[in-house]
Amino acid sequence: MANPIEKIGVYTSGGDAPGMNAAIRAVVRTGIPSGVEIVGIRQGYAGMLTSQFETLQMNSVANTIQRGGTILKSGRTPEFVKPEVRIQAAANLKKAGIGGLICIGGDGSFRGGHALWEEHKIPIIGIPGTIDNDIYGTDSTIGYDTAVNTALDSIDRIRDTAASHDRLFIVEVMGRDSGFIAIDVALAGGAEEVFIPENLASIERTVEHIKKGVARGKTSSILIAAEGQNPGRAYDLAEQIRRKSGFESKVCVLGHIQRGGSPTASDRILASRMGFGAVRALQASLSDIMIGMVGGKIVHVPLLDCINKKKRVPSELIELAQLLST
Ligand code: F6P
Repeated sequence: MANPIEKIGVYTSGGDAPGMNAAIRAVVRTGIPSGVEIVGIRQGYAGMLTSQFETLQMNSVANTIQRGGTILKSGRTPEFVKPEVRIQAAANLKKAGIGGLICIGGDGSFRGGHALWEEHKIPIIGIPGTIDNDIYGTDSTIGYDTAVNTALDSIDRIRDTAASHDRLFIVEVMGRDSGFIAIDVALAGGAEEVFIPENLASIERTVEHIKKGVARGKTSSILIAAEGQNPGRAYDLAEQIRRKSGFESKVCVLGHIQRGGSPTASDRILASRMGFGAVRALQASLSDIMIGMVGGKIVHVPLLDCINKKKRVPSELIELAQLLST
């Protein structure tokens, strides 16, 4: 039987997401009462490379469950793809006596953690923290529900002004190469069209759709565009629609507003359950897995699956959004 783990390092990496603090809090408050020291690693992999380690106490996470962002700070560290850089990180971790890691982030962050396990046998547990919800093996990621609700609030406001001025709006939401945020806000916001990387609506169809609406007396419309690999693409869509139909549209790119704010109850609970699950997994000598939530139950998913497999927007949601927008 392996020695019980004495010191766990926890870090947030990649784009921040509301609910990351709730996950850190759960790690601290699960670990300390069971005799484990919890070390916060600041600024993700950058902090690992510069030994930015700080032992967290029970009260280090007081008053944080409701706060957006991450108290540990986050970042993207492109140089971590290099094995020689990871050697330095592993040496720093071993010197500090850190015997296991909890990485709160997305698939890029998991890749770094998986490599540390493969090359240096440092146990690692992933917690999916990203507004994009693009991680295989979990129904939802921490921050996604909050981001959808934040975007939806903006879309409802835009609808007020769109209706007052009889305007067509294109609202661009985040999500990188996945359309989860876009499809959810399109459904919940009653959008007339949604452009997502998984299923590109054609400009011709959109124009026909708007024309039919106008013929029925509709005076304003909202189209949702996922940013895809090309943030700002809503401006291109507006131009294409203008060329095809003469319709002028207003563009609103929601951007990083979607990443901030107080997490929803659902994100706080998800993060709390995942933080608890991650500590318990390390204490059970597990490694190289992600804590997911499927059908309301905590599951363990191989990190390699989370890194290599793609989670798809369910086609029935795409069909429903189309059906209801007519
Ligand atoms: O992955 C989260 C995310 O917010 C994406 O939706 C977006 O494309 C990206 O991060 C933006 O990253 P940055 O804040 O580094 O510009």
